[in-house]
Amino acid sequence: MPDSENPATAVTFPPAFLWGAATSAYQIEGAVREDGRTPSIWDTFSHTPGKTAGGDHGDIAVDHYHRYREDVALMAELGLGAYRFSVSWSRVQPTGRGPAVQKGLDFYRRLVDELLSKGIQPAVTLYHWDLPQELEDAGGWPERDTAYRFAEYAQIVGEALGDRVEQWMTLNEPWCSAFLGYASGVHAPGRTDPAASLRAAHHLNLAHGLGASALRSVMPARNSVAISLNSTVARPLSQSPADLAAARKIDDLANGVFHGPVLHGAYPESLYVATAELTDWDYVLDGDLTLINQPLDALGLNYYTPALVSAADPAAKGPRADGHGSSDHSPWPAAEDVAFHQTPGDRTEMGWTIDPTGLHELIMRYTREAPGLPLYITENGAAYDDKIDSDGRVHDPERVAYLHGHLSAVRRAITDGADVRGYFLWSLMDNFEWSYGYGKRFGAVYVDYATLERTPKSSAHWYAKAARTGTLPE
Ligand code: NOJ
Repeated sequence: MPDSENPATAVTFPPAFLWGAATSAYQIEGAVREDGRTPSIWDTFSHTPGKTAGGDHGDIAVDHYHRYREDVALMAELGLGAYRFSVSWSRVQPTGRGPAVQKGLDFYRRLVDELLSKGIQPAVTLYHWDLPQELEDAGGWPERDTAYRFAEYAQIVGEALGDRVEQWMTLNEPWCSAFLGYASGVHAPGRTDPAASLRAAHHLNLAHGLGASALRSVMPARNSVAISLNSTVARPLSQSPADLAAARKIDDLANGVFHGPVLHGAYPESLYVATAELTDWDYVLDGDLTLINQPLDALGLNYYTPALVSAADPAAKGPRADGHGSSDHSPWPAAEDVAFHQTPGDRTEMGWTIDPTGLHELIMRYTREAPGLPLYITENGAAYDDKIDSDGRVHDPERVAYLHGHLSAVRRAITDGADVRGYFLWSLMDNFEWSYGYGKRFGAVYVDYATLERTPKSSAHWYAKAARTGTLPE
């Protein structure tokens, strides 16, 4: 029965709800040597043998740098209200310090103007993992100076685009930058030093705080400044005190380590205790926590799947099921006493269990954690092994089901009192999925990597209808 005839089951969103899609610079742009861009840590990492599936890299990616007009036209066709993208730091400030490169900034100006001309609201992420290589050579995120360099970069981009972009995010998923980049090493720069990963986390937090105030110093007051966190929903395997403690520890290492200073101006005491053997946190200088605890206009949440954890014997080295790539090194410093388990249920092509209840839980948690702060789901989506059918179309009913389930969870959270203002599907189109390369397709739009031709999947048409009507099609 069509929704209109059965309003009791129709999932309808508030009229102002923002329907968006997201991407990031290194995953889509290509053109890595054009117009003065220099290598980022992801150029170096992906060109290092063995680091990405099939040696895939972002040299061409989906050539968005040259095809952005076509891509914006696609977004308009899909009726998107907003588009979240990231700026490549080494495209606008090649060595990570000093003056900006005009041509780099011009690309983002053209992109933003194209979006605005089609009535699509741009949402800019300043840092989606592509640190200029020269800054990594100088020590990277474990070094305090990187945070100051980020503030300078934030000011440059804020000055250039602040008059036409209202929605800003400083960092995307700093957990991945710190712990996949510096502890497990499955992401660039590929270091495996747990103590350094905690230093990196602090300096990412500092970068957020300094970057947020740099943005505010150069932008109109109406603009919104936020951060996108990939908070982990860590569920205990049982209600035993040991399993509950394991879940709390992962919550500190995944969430509290960022939202503690960002939202409340303090790291959790229990985090200091848990990591005491690795670090004394002497790099947290007087005044840092105040600098990090900047007032925010919104909070971005990225969600894909929950985690299931229990206490473990630190000596027993079993397989990890934390879903963050394979490495002999854990991305969880000081958590040798925690085991990760496969959550029950169907899984996507990433092996991530489909569980929309986790998204509802996450939204309600941040509704309590940050009362009054508007929330955006800045990423949510699924990878499937999509193929072009003989009819020339791409049928992806699993992705439609995934989106339906998760958007329904968002709607339930709104009914339960959460202030969720919008949703950005990850991703607008298939792209470079980091160490998994091009093998994992998250797009609502299919990309043929031989011809770079774009074909909207059935999920894109489904999403377009949802965006147009404000109601989820059945
Ligand atoms: C989070 C990241 O922000 C994005 O870059 C990535 O592609 C998706 N998750 C899927 O793994």
